Amino acid sequence: MKTQVRIAPSLLSADFSALGKAVLEAEAAGADLIHLDVMDGQFVPNLTIGPLVVAAVDSVTDLPLDVHLMIAQPERYLAAFVQAGSDIVYVHPEATIHLDRTLRTIRDLGARAGGVLNPATSEEQLRYVLPLLDAVLVMTVNPGFGGQDFIQAMLPKIRRVRQMLDAAGSEAWLVVDGGVDVDTASGVVAAGADTLVAGSAIFGAPEGVAQAIGNLRRAAV
Ligand code: DX5
Ligand code: ZN
Repeated sequence: MKTQVRIAPSLLSADFSALGKAVLEAEAAGADLIHLDVMDGQFVPNLTIGPLVVAAVDSVTDLPLDVHLMIAQPERYLAAFVQAGSDIVYVHPEATIHLDRTLRTIRDLGARAGGVLNPATSEEQLRYVLPLLDAVLVMTVNPGFGGQDFIQAMLPKIRRVRQMLDAAGSEAWLVVDGGVDVDTASGVVAAGADTLVAGSAIFGAPEGVAQAIGNLRRAAV
């Protein structure tokens, strides 16, 4: 039997004046991870949070923290983010000159390591570091903002990543991030994803967080 798809609510679309409440609601509704989007205004055109907020979120939940670094030279901050409670740390190959070293450092610090593919980035960027990867995250929007439209042309890439991981015997998670909702989830899962990040579809949903997570789970089969 296929294992259940993991749901990782992204706090980017949550109410930042009540982040703890948002995390607890997501946890109570059966979220598997909490996804945090770290942006530096340089690698992406937006600014969000740093290790202080990761630590604050860690203090209210036992769920693993999925920390997506959209920052230039992420190697400068790996220790700070792991000490803050990050369980998985994702980096973009474009942001770090020595990707292999950066991924090894994440693991040496005791976290799991993820590599991210921007929409225009080929899966080949990660081929030679596959043994160092615990997760591959395929962006299905351009990073920087929540609430953007899912880029359909990424579906073949998700399939290619699935093939690449399976051929290598890798057990890395295949995570999809951007524009994931009840309409796009099933195609993403059919293409081979096992973990879905969703921000606006969960924290922006008129039906509320619990119902939105339930709806996404039912759609993600
Ligand atoms: C975008 C972030 C995403 C974002 C997804 O740069 O990486 O995690 O929060 O938001 P939605 O689900 O609204 O596209
Ligand atoms: Zn993200």
